[in-house]
Amino acid sequence: MFLKNAWYAAIWAKDLPAGEPVAKIFLNQPVVLFRTASGTSVALEDRCCHRAAPLSRGICLENTIECGYHGLRFDATGACVHIPGQTHIPPGARVRSYPLCERHNMVWIWMGDAGCADENKIPDYYWLDDPAWVAATGYIPMQGHYQLLVDNLLDFTHVSYLHKNTLSADPAEATVPVKVERTEDTVSVARWILGLDAPPLFAKAGGFDGKVDRWQTTTWRAPSTLAFDVGCARAGTGAPEGDRTHGISIWSMHLITPETETSTHYHWGYVRNFALDDPAMTKVLHDGAEATFMEDVTMIEAQQKNLAGGSIDGLMDINADNPPLQMRRIMDGLIAAEAANP
Ligand code: FES
Ligand SMILES: [Fe+2]
Repeated sequence: MFLKNAWYAAIWAKDLPAGEPVAKIFLNQPVVLFRTASGTSVALEDRCCHRAAPLSRGICLENTIECGYHGLRFDATGACVHIPGQTHIPPGARVRSYPLCERHNMVWIWMGDAGCADENKIPDYYWLDDPAWVAATGYIPMQGHYQLLVDNLLDFTHVSYLHKNTLSADPAEATVPVKVERTEDTVSVARWILGLDAPPLFAKAGGFDGKVDRWQTTTWRAPSTLAFDVGCARAGTGAPEGDRTHGISIWSMHLITPETETSTHYHWGYVRNFALDDPAMTKVLHDGAEATFMEDVTMIEAQQKNLAGGSIDGLMDINADNPPLQMRRIMDGLIAAEAANP
C-alpha cells in the first residue's frame, strides 16, 4: 500500500525533453510523461482507452500524444482530440491525467485525488536551483521497497560499516548518540561528531588534513523525501556554535518514489556552496556521492531478496532503529487514514 495523496519526484526536468515520451511506473500505475511543444510537462495514464496500448510507444505531436497503434490523439488533459477516419469523438474518450509541477529542477507528480494536489506541499528543496549553490544530481533505479531506502537514510549507524571507504573515518562514529525529533509527518535525526578525522570524500572536497568537527542532520518528510545538512570544519573552530566558515557545507537530497512493491525510483542531489565555478569539484562530489549511494542500493537490493515484499515483520530491532520505526509508524497512520477516507 502506498500513500497516494502526496507529491512524488517523477523525473529530473532535464531528462524530459520536448517531444520524447517517457514510460514510467509510479505506485504500480503505468504513466507516460512527455513535454509538449509549448514546454508544458504532462503525465497521462500509459494505457490507451481504445485497446490499451501504451501511449509511450506513440509520438508527440505539438501539444498532444498520438497512440502508436491506431492513431488516437490525446491532449494534455487526457482528452481524446482526434480519431482517424471519424469526426465524432465519444464523450468518454479519455485517459487519466495526473497533476504535475516543475519545481527546483524536478518534475513532481501527484498520484492521488487531483483535487487535493496542493503545490504548497512540495518540499522546499530550493538548494537544487539556487544560484548560491551548485548541484550534482543523479538517478538510480533500485530493486527494493522504497521504505528500505528511507530506513537506511534515517539510520546513521550503517555509515560506519557500509560506507567505511567513502563517508566514514572512524568506527567510533557509530556510537555517537543522535537527537531525534518527530512531528505528525516528519522525523529529524541529528548528531555532532567532534574531533575525528574527516571522512575520505569530505577530506578530498575540503582539503582537510587534520581532525574535524562534523555535523549530520536530516529531516524525512512523508512520504519519502529527505534533506541532509552535512559537512565538517577544522576541529575547534566554532562550527558547533554556528561558525561554519572553516569548513564545507553540503545538502544531500534524496527524492524517493515507489515504482512497485519491490522497486524504487531514487533521485538524489548533492549540493554545495563552495567552489561554485569548479566543474572538477562537481565531478568529485557527483562521483563520490553516487559511489556512496550505490553502496546503499547494492545492500538494499540484497536485503530485498531476503524479505517478503517490504515487510520487516518478525525481525529484531536495535536502538538505532528508532527513527526508521517512527517513520514507518507515521506512514502506516497516513496510509490507514487515506484508506478510511478515499
Ligand atoms: S490502442 Fe491506442 S489507438 Fe488503438
Ligand atoms: Fe548510506
